[in-house]
Amino acid sequence: MTAEFLAPFQNRIEVKLTERLSTFGQPKALNDAMAYACLGGGKRLRATLVYLSADALGLSLDQADSTALAVELIHAYSLIHDDLPAMDDDALRRGKPSTHIKFGEALAILAGDALQALAFQTLAEDVLLDPAARLRLIQALSAACGVQGMVGGQVHDMTGEHQALSLSALTEMHALKTGALIEFSAASAAIMASNQSDFEQTLRAFGAQLGLAFQVQDDILDETSSTEVLGKQQGSDRARAKSTFVSLMGLEAAQNHLADLMKTALNLLQQSQLETENLRALAHYMVERKH
Ligand code: IPE
Ligand code: IPE
Ligand code: MG
Ligand code: MG
Ligand code: MG
Repeated sequence: MTAEFLAPFQNRIEVKLTERLSTFGQPKALNDAMAYACLGGGKRLRATLVYLSADALGLSLDQADSTALAVELIHAYSLIHDDLPAMDDDALRRGKPSTHIKFGEALAILAGDALQALAFQTLAEDVLLDPAARLRLIQALSAACGVQGMVGGQVHDMTGEHQALSLSALTEMHALKTGALIEFSAASAAIMASNQSDFEQTLRAFGAQLGLAFQVQDDILDETSSTEVLGKQQGSDRARAKSTFVSLMGLEAAQNHLADLMKTALNLLQQSQLETENLRALAHYMVERKH
């Protein structure tokens, strides 16, 4: 599995994020914390999914930039907060000290807040998209990261510590905390292109399944990889007695389950009639990744 196809999209979003974050001067400490959390790391899988879905629907990458930015800004905010002492209490992220270790908790919390706001501001201000598309994107992204999406899933994650959740409760938790943003990333192109809205449901089904598989692999890597390779603390889930697919099923069954989820995701991609070589490669990479 090679990740060469990712490089142009990773480079593009790095440039766009750098530009976006350089538009604010003050307060400098807040800007520094935001840039620290966003730049120079991260696989950029969500942005790449936005770009590749847009490309599959015949949109330009320029039209997809604001959504790619928005998902990476939301993702970076979610990682800052996820690592806080009150949450997973992880000191390492993307191979560097977590934002709260580097800047202190208060600034880390505020940088996360500001990144979240900036995501929606970026969508609202994108003159390349018509106002109706912008509004729909803002609606869909806010739904994906709020109570019925990422934040709701994070609460299930917290309350699931020291408990054996059922398979369906665990699946729901993963679908919310991680799946929802990936589902949005896959479906966003159909929302941008108002005449292509027929594809939204099929892309959503693919993205949701892929997002679930992605988080199952995250659980597996937490158990099987190393801190050095991951760039984040290996064994963090076990240390906090998290409910994960590995804790519930054991490693081998989790790996088999992941293979089934992946098969379904690839079938859904095929059924969407938007399958491209790059989207297929991205799906494989997201699930077979080593970090
Ligand atoms: C990590 O996501 C957080 C989860 C939702 C599991 P990624 O593995 O995509 O993190 P980066 O952006 O590449 O660091
Ligand atoms: C994070 O899940 C999901 C988010 C919404 C950030 P994890 O807690 O498993 O992510 P990592 O392993 O710390 O990256
Ligand atoms: Mg967590
Ligand atoms: Mg975590
Ligand atoms: Mg994890």
